[in-house]
Amino acid sequence: MHKVANRTLSCINSPSHMEYSVLTITNKEFARRRKQLMAHMEPNSIAILPAAPERTRSRDTEYLYRQDSDFYYLSGFLEPESVLVLIPEREHGAYVMFCRERDRERETWDGYRLGPEGVCKNLGANDAFPIDDIDEILPGLIEGRERVYYAMGKDTDFDHQVMSWVNSIRAKVRSGAHPPGEFLDLDHYLHDMRLYKSATEVSIMRKAGEISANAHIRAMKACKPGVFEYQLEADILHEFARNGARNPAYNSIVGGGDNGCILHYVENRNELYSGDLVLIDAGCELEHYAADITRTFPVNGKFNKEQKALYELTLSAQQAAIEKIKPGNHWNEPHEASVRVITEGLLALGLLNGDLDQLIEDEKYKEFYMHRIGHWLGMDVHDVGDYKVGGEWRVLEPGMCMTVEPGIYVAPDNIQVESKWRGIGIRIEDDVLITDSGCEVMTSGAPKTVDDIEALMAGHD
Ligand code: GLY
Ligand code: MN
Ligand code: MN
Repeated sequence: MHKVANRTLSCINSPSHMEYSVLTITNKEFARRRKQLMAHMEPNSIAILPAAPERTRSRDTEYLYRQDSDFYYLSGFLEPESVLVLIPEREHGAYVMFCRERDRERETWDGYRLGPEGVCKNLGANDAFPIDDIDEILPGLIEGRERVYYAMGKDTDFDHQVMSWVNSIRAKVRSGAHPPGEFLDLDHYLHDMRLYKSATEVSIMRKAGEISANAHIRAMKACKPGVFEYQLEADILHEFARNGARNPAYNSIVGGGDNGCILHYVENRNELYSGDLVLIDAGCELEHYAADITRTFPVNGKFNKEQKALYELTLSAQQAAIEKIKPGNHWNEPHEASVRVITEGLLALGLLNGDLDQLIEDEKYKEFYMHRIGHWLGMDVHDVGDYKVGGEWRVLEPGMCMTVEPGIYVAPDNIQVESKWRGIGIRIEDDVLITDSGCEVMTSGAPKTVDDIEALMAGHD
């Protein structure tokens, strides 16, 4: 029996209340997205989007396949070696897909394929053709269109393919063929669409946030001196996978002690020692949507005086930033708020010296807080969407999702500060949805006050 592998429903068994929920983007929503994109396309145009290529990990073994976010956003199709084509004015239907053909032997080795027929039936394509025939068929679909939309420069091999299709039309101009005259960037409008999350997207992201928050709780409970960083990573990944999120949205960071000061530390190989903090930045991917959480906590369950002072400063910077997240405020306001709180606090603690406004103007905080407050969050962890519009910071609007992740990192070799501060690295990161009236923190399930963390780690949860 042929089992259709695409568009399987994700059944998520929540360990907290054992409810059974189905969270998935429906074909209706994929269709609505295509319609919205096509309504924006110039007259007499065609859009071409390739699936993500498969990538070799070693010799004949591949990385686990992950579909390209733009391609998936418009189709819900999971298979590689596919090309999505949208032609708003095409007489026989606007939505065309090229994909692998059914192949009993290949499917036995590599897994199910929908095949062109299945793509029409299951995904609602108006026409679907074998990918092996694309060089013969696609030039005919491009021919006569004035404009081609595609993401130039993203995939060199695909750029060459598009050019070869266009050149094959140019070679026939003397027989009356009409090659396109314009190439337009598809990303800009598409990425703007992706910035505004629908109700279903928000539900999925909330669930991804909940699963990830539970994973952080598990790591806090499992942590004690002598445990290794990779063991906490294993707990985190296990919690993701057992809840239907097989993959992390990015490589998990588990950094104990000085390693917490390395922003993208992913070796995760060291032992954790009493007296140190451990910084964990980990989030799952659910139905192609990312969560992104960071928590920092004491390996032995109790913050010391300096750790507590810097931790509470980071937390108040995060709170100040979250208060600025509401419709009408611009993208940079939360960052500015966090910079002010952190600089003020570092001044009060003697890690910076001088005049507050001057320190901010001179960006002296960057020695300790060298990244920005956050980024858009969605199908990609560092999601698409412009941060500035017309040279001005973007105004926040309901439906946008972002992270809020201030940090303070005192380099282990910073001899400008007293030794008691050195090697403390802290980041606190949550995922926030902008709502009509303000914002919703989607990852609040992971404790972050000193009292809540210490109580949880002491077993008083
Ligand atoms: N985990 C990557 C980030 O926080 O941006
Ligand atoms: Mn993160
Ligand atoms: Mn982040």
